[in-house]
Amino acid sequence: MRIPMIAGNWKMNTTVTEAVALVKEMRPELDRIDNVDKVICPPFVSLAAVKELLTRSSIKLGAQNLYFEEKGAYTGEISPLMLAGLCQLVIIGHSERRQYFKETVETVDKKIKAAFKVGLKPILCVGETPKENETGKTKEVLSKQLSLTSSQAYNPGGLTLAYEPIWAIGTGRAASGEQANQTIAFIRQHISKQYGQEIAQAVRILYGGSVTAANIAEFINQPEIDGALVGGASLKASEFLSIVKQTSSFKRAK
Ligand code: 13P
Repeated sequence: MRIPMIAGNWKMNTTVTEAVALVKEMRPELDRIDNVDKVICPPFVSLAAVKELLTRSSIKLGAQNLYFEEKGAYTGEISPLMLAGLCQLVIIGHSERRQYFKETVETVDKKIKAAFKVGLKPILCVGETPKENETGKTKEVLSKQLSLTSSQAYNPGGLTLAYEPIWAIGTGRAASGEQANQTIAFIRQHISKQYGQEIAQAVRILYGGSVTAANIAEFINQPEIDGALVGGASLKASEFLSIVKQTSSFKRAK
């Protein structure tokens, strides 16, 4: 039985003051919702303040990226060791990192390994561009993005995957529940071929791309989808709460 996860990726939004206000607004109600792993991923500079606010909370904290070296002359980068005491999860390989910061399958793999080394749980993002989608390359692209990570990454409670088609991110044009379910089923089959059925059945795979309170039901109703990685809608307390609540009650009813 896979516990659903709803993770909010705040991206490059909110000052520290705004982040603190948003967490204060969401925490009481979010804490009352069980049956779902609730994760928020604010910008690096707000992690320490938000960590303080989440003392004795069931809400988990995640970062949006890390560098794979532990320390040294890498101006402007944040190391796994720096994050280890601050948060429990880390988003790795988001398409915006691959697109704008030239992250490759190889660097993403190094980051996954570096995260595990310090006990951080990665949320590995995969997804195809609009062009790759239109030219029927989705499966090939996803297979490549999933090719390097080792079987150890899939140990229980380890890696979470997020399928985020780039054409659906920030566009208001979400995939349909059925579309997302089919592609996530493909990802699960791919993992099954690589590492076996047991590992494939245990790994959580989220959908991401224009998820809102109005469409979350369509995704969590699908058998292969274990939750969502939410961008824009995670910045509004009422939207995010509704997404988490709907996920909790659907899975309970099942
Ligand atoms: P939106 O929900 O804003 O489309 O962003 C999705 C995303 O990229 C989450 O990581």
